[in-house]
Amino acid sequence: MDYQNIIVETHGRVGLIRLNRPKQLNALNDALVDELGHALDVFEADEGIGAIVITGSEKAFAAGADIAAMANFSYMDAYKGNYITRNWERVKTCRKPVIAAVAGFALGGGCELAMMCDLIIAADNAKFGQPEVKLGILPGAGGTQRLPRAVGKAKAMEMCLTGRFMDAEEAERSGLVARVVPAERLLEDALETAKTIASYSLPVVMMIKECVNRAYESPLNEGLLFERRTFHSSFALEDQKEGMAAFLEKRAPQFKHR
Ligand code: HXC
Repeated sequence: MDYQNIIVETHGRVGLIRLNRPKQLNALNDALVDELGHALDVFEADEGIGAIVITGSEKAFAAGADIAAMANFSYMDAYKGNYITRNWERVKTCRKPVIAAVAGFALGGGCELAMMCDLIIAADNAKFGQPEVKLGILPGAGGTQRLPRAVGKAKAMEMCLTGRFMDAEEAERSGLVARVVPAERLLEDALETAKTIASYSLPVVMMIKECVNRAYESPLNEGLLFERRTFHSSFALEDQKEGMAAFLEKRAPQFKHR
């Protein structure tokens, strides 16, 4: 596919997707999200890729869904076209870990896209917000659901109702982001984190991701059972034998299924 709205690179075992509509601050339109989905399909199918990073520019991760594209939507356009989840869920369904490296604005659908990723690393200039209320709409790709789970009801409610932005420092304090790094080190740091993940056994990494996600999708008892069964199944992996043998032999593991 000839990408017009994203730039795709590989860095060793890490796939990097840069959102690239600079004039619109990476506003998310169908074309961009379709390309993002395609790039994720390719990385997911590629055995040489163990983790994926999605990033934007220094000024914006993404300033939201493309307002110009949806300004004249009718209810039927939105409903029949299943806007906006038609092509957005791809990030969520990706089985390999996806890191959002966020600098600048992550607003509306941009904040929602970041929250669909498995973890967010923020530059110190990052700003998160759900300003849809100012446009006469509401978050439509998980903002009212994932934000409360990440930062709690009080802050999520305030952000969604007032449209105020949260800076990187507050986002880290509130649990929205894993880490804040100086803007100039953002990509390097995100790639390094992704490389670490990609150095481990891929099936184990995928199992861990599934288990942590269960914590958000099921009652505690179900999640614990799911984790225990998955844990038991890890003993069927050659990489479990290798990982433990390597520890006991005081050497670095050579994971086969990377
Ligand atoms: C379309 C956008 C855009 C967007 C910015 N632009 N955000 N175009 N959709 N979401 C365009 C501007 O129109 C402008 O184009 C150019 O990008 C630069 O933006 P400026 O506003 O001039 O930059 P600045 O003054 O620095 O302000 C940055 C900003 C502001 C604070 C991020 O652009 C802003 O408030 N943007 C909208 C944020 C927002 O409301 N997001 C939620 C969208 S709704 P020109 O042609 O003038 O240079 C949403 C719903 C999700 O996401 C529903 C489910 C997915």
